[in-house]
Amino acid sequence: MDPSFTKVSSVAKAMADRSAGRQVDEVKSKVDLVEVISAYLPLKKAGRNYAGLCPFHTEKTPSFMVSPDRQVWKCFGCGENGDVFTFLEKIEGWEFRETLQELAKKAGVKLAAFRPTDRDRDRDKLFAVNSLAEKFYSHLLNKHPAGEVARKYLAKRGIPQTLWEKFGLGYAPSGWDNTLNFFAKRGFNLADLATAGLVIARSTSGARTWPGGGFYDRFRERLIFPLKDSRGSVLGFSGRTLRPFDSAQDSGQVREPKYINSPETPIFNKGSLLFGLDVTRKAIRDKNEAILVEGEFDVLSAYKAGLENVVASKGTALTQKQAVILSRVAESVVVCFDTDLAGDAAARRGIELLDISGVGIKVVRLGNYKDPDEFAQSDPAGFKEAVGSSANVYDYFIESASARYDGRTSLGKKKIGQEILPIISKISDDLVKAHYISQLAKVLDLETSLVAAAVEKKQSNLYSMLSPESKSDSSNKTNILNLEEYFLALFVFQDEATFSFLKLVEPSDFGSEEAADFWKWVRDIIKDSKLKSKSLKRLLIGLPKNLSGFVDNLYLVNISPAFADKELCAQELVKTARRIKQESCKRRLSAISKKIKLAQSKKDEAQLSVLSKQFDVISKNLKELI
Ligand code: CTP
Ligand code: MN
Repeated sequence: MDPSFTKVSSVAKAMADRSAGRQVDEVKSKVDLVEVISAYLPLKKAGRNYAGLCPFHTEKTPSFMVSPDRQVWKCFGCGENGDVFTFLEKIEGWEFRETLQELAKKAGVKLAAFRPTDRDRDRDKLFAVNSLAEKFYSHLLNKHPAGEVARKYLAKRGIPQTLWEKFGLGYAPSGWDNTLNFFAKRGFNLADLATAGLVIARSTSGARTWPGGGFYDRFRERLIFPLKDSRGSVLGFSGRTLRPFDSAQDSGQVREPKYINSPETPIFNKGSLLFGLDVTRKAIRDKNEAILVEGEFDVLSAYKAGLENVVASKGTALTQKQAVILSRVAESVVVCFDTDLAGDAAARRGIELLDISGVGIKVVRLGNYKDPDEFAQSDPAGFKEAVGSSANVYDYFIESASARYDGRTSLGKKKIGQEILPIISKISDDLVKAHYISQLAKVLDLETSLVAAAVEKKQSNLYSMLSPESKSDSSNKTNILNLEEYFLALFVFQDEATFSFLKLVEPSDFGSEEAADFWKWVRDIIKDSKLKSKSLKRLLIGLPKNLSGFVDNLYLVNISPAFADKELCAQELVKTARRIKQESCKRRLSAISKKIKLAQSKKDEAQLSVLSKQFDVISKNLKELI
């Protein structure tokens, strides 16, 4: 565009028309909606329009239409629609003004209606400083003899020049004032450099005066990674030491951190960006999946291995802002962290944030490799395969916990429950949640409805729902709650001695003698009783002394308050009764098997035929129960 024309036209506009509306129209007339949208999703020509998969809801057939004639878009699936402004606002999460500025830049329109505020000017200054610093550092890495040490380092770590150039890497040389002098010579204000975090003010204690106006370079003898937003503006930097990191510890000198980052500035906040996204965004969109790693080198090495849809959180815990950014570019995230996610509360919080943002989450196992960088460098194909076959995060959590604790023991149940219940209770999708409740119930060998009730009340201590806390860690066998005690505890909890419950199991179905005796006693008393009340608490006045200890224990069991719901409790009783009957059948079958063996050894044909008939009948009963 002819620059003089731009100038004249914008001045004229500013004078003639102060409404932003005209400028909006001008910007709109100069950008092509199809081109803008194509940067985010593939569009195919469909008659006079273009069609694609809607980025605002999940769909398998394209119902997202763009009209080049009208410069509007509409999704016939979810009903969203609008123009280029609404599209960018929705997909980028930008404000209207930010959108207008971006589009005006693209269209070469100078905006006159908005006068920049002081804040805008300060931010622009920082962007300019950072952009120049990026050029300075990358020149040193790519062209300058001093950069040799960094080039060698990158070569040693298996990073080729084309790759490091793509991510804009640089080198900050050793010395205290290289960056400082570079900017000072170009007339920059040192205070602005300090605000940008490139130089640091020396402490003012002591009478000594320093060269460099009292400032020194923050990044020295480090490999530089520019940290950019998704538009490619440099927000800050991170620098990795080039000194052998592990040996520094033994050499007696003060250990410098492996990575240092820009401090918080008006434009930089470490937790609000993802390293690499400016380069990898398109690949992430195309695959609708992002591979999330921890560090800069993990990104470079994964990219080199052919997994270009990768970004780094720069440290383990994913922040809310990072989760939101990810959810805008992909529907699925493959988490590839060095740490055990299940054991790390901060990392778990990150997963939860992704889940809330509606992102599907998978987890890659690194096996014996230290981090994705090491994995991708030494076995690129293996790494790709591991990413391709990553497991759903909740399966991973349950697996991880049950590998560490034994779900069949009471203590294991408690530990697994403490770890997994809070995670499951936070799953945002109800169907997904229901699936994992039943998975957990399987692992713990407990009734699904019990686990569901625990999740419902965000109860993390599952075992305390089964048995009083004071007993839970006891190794005394009699304190471990079994199925029969659980059934009877539920029965006394609901307090109604009605026959519909009493016929659920026979006294002979109980393996425990006390349980059988108690059940028989209740049945007898109900049959005889002319009392109107069926309340167990009342009936128990006549309980024989030898059973009172047993019944006391039933009342001590801490049943989930969720079972105050009569119907839920009745369902649980029916289910548990079924399992008691199953167990009873199994016990009988094994007893008969023993007798059959005996009869076989005695060649007692008559006895054998009786026994095998019994065996068949009970097997049939058992089958019906399962
Ligand atoms: N990190 C950071 N500041 C630190 C340490 C780490 O910002 N003082 C970030 C970096 O982005 C780093 C990531 O956390 O890449 C993971 O740290 P770590 O596992 O310790 O380092 P690596 O990624 O393995 O670094 P390298 O491969 O360069 O040794
Ligand atoms: Mn590493």
